[in-house]
Amino acid sequence: MDKSKVSIVILAAGKGSRMKSSKAKVLHNISGKPMLYYIIKASLEISDDITVVVAHQKEAVMEQVGALFENINFVIQDAQNFPGTGGAMKNVKPKNEKVLVLNGDMPLISADALHGFLETNADIIMSIFDLQNPDGYGRVIIEEGQVQAIVEQKDASKDELKVTSVNAGIYAFSKSVIEKYIPMLDNNNAQEEYYLTDVIAMAKKDSLFIAPLLVDEEHFKGINSKKDLADAEVIMQDRIKTKWMNAGVIMQLPSTIYIEEGVEFEGECIVENGCRITGDSKIINSHIKAHSVIEDSVMINSDAGPMAHLRPLSHITDTHIGNFVETKKSTLKGVKAGHLSYIGDAEVDEGTNVGAGVITCNYDGIKKYKTIIGKNVFVGSDCQLVAPVTIEDDVMVAAGTTLTSGTVTKGSLAISRTKLRSIKDFYYKFFSKN
Ligand code: UD1
Ligand code: CA
Repeated sequence: MDKSKVSIVILAAGKGSRMKSSKAKVLHNISGKPMLYYIIKASLEISDDITVVVAHQKEAVMEQVGALFENINFVIQDAQNFPGTGGAMKNVKPKNEKVLVLNGDMPLISADALHGFLETNADIIMSIFDLQNPDGYGRVIIEEGQVQAIVEQKDASKDELKVTSVNAGIYAFSKSVIEKYIPMLDNNNAQEEYYLTDVIAMAKKDSLFIAPLLVDEEHFKGINSKKDLADAEVIMQDRIKTKWMNAGVIMQLPSTIYIEEGVEFEGECIVENGCRITGDSKIINSHIKAHSVIEDSVMINSDAGPMAHLRPLSHITDTHIGNFVETKKSTLKGVKAGHLSYIGDAEVDEGTNVGAGVITCNYDGIKKYKTIIGKNVFVGSDCQLVAPVTIEDDVMVAAGTTLTSGTVTKGSLAISRTKLRSIKDFYYKFFSKN
């Protein structure tokens, strides 16, 4: 594909008041990434000239986009004096002949879904879909098979409101159409905004060729409310999980599983029902059992759960993590931690067994400290390892031991217990008195 044929402008300057949020609409997350991410990702597949228009919370939007992508142009809308989608286009100077304008609130778009705009030749191509409930969208007025105008919901007459053909919000303009009509827009409408959609009626009046392109709602759905956000999440999750199942991952009851966009699988993996896998987690030949949460972690030839929690930067290889075990920023190689443990800021080596109820005490209220456990160590149940602490190879730590800072040398037994006292008939005496 020749990416120098088309410029893409993404409108991301609006407040998004219908989201009822202090966060800019385009920064709301879907499957772990801001919605703008998906639009830019699709755009980069077809164009070498991408401009994002910003205004509301522009620093945050530019920072997040900058962290995810290189070579994106930003244009700042003068939203005070020129509000609206047409106002957003005022300062845009596209490089290429064809200009695709996308709303920043359409995260379900894909490069494939945009191909229709590249293949058709017209002064304007506009996207249309038919909705049983057109609420919230601009209505497309079609007469004698020709698009006449787009009327925004707030400006529509009773009859116009009944129209079910709506403006999906993506347009391809020839560069000259933008240069000519954007400066001519006014704000004589219900919202006192400069509507990009008014370009259609103006171009029609000048007998330009406007081609309607029928598109599907699944890819062109606009996100205006938190309900829309939740609906889009369902579609995005389905796409992500379908991709990984096609790549060979087994998922049990996939509709109960949540997997973020940055997650990767390799080899044969099983994900049981109710799991949540987030961030840049990488799962290789591993089995994640029911209701486990894996965040920004790596699992290689391992199993975790049911109900395990691998917090960020856990890196486990050839390891068994059982139920109610939490790990964080820890590297475990060839380890068994079967039940009820917290392993944080630790390195644990091959052949080591971490008993039920073992806790690394990694935090003293001010700083975090490391726990290092060598090979073939047996840590008995209910031990506290007060970091910083090092346990060398071939050590036994007796059940119930509190290990305080220092090193347990190779081959030793560490034990800290008070002597057991057993007081005869105490029970009977105690309860007969009361
Ligand atoms: C817009 C269309 C409507 C269409 C719908 C499709 C207009 C006037 N209306 O309505 O016909 O059916 O999309 O989803 O274009 N934005 C700016 N600057 C602004 C205002 C908005 O950059 O001053 C950006 C927003 O960040 C958003 C996009 O433009 O990403 C669309 O704005 P929004 O307010 O959601 O438009 P709709 O009312 O949905
Ligand atoms: Ca919208």
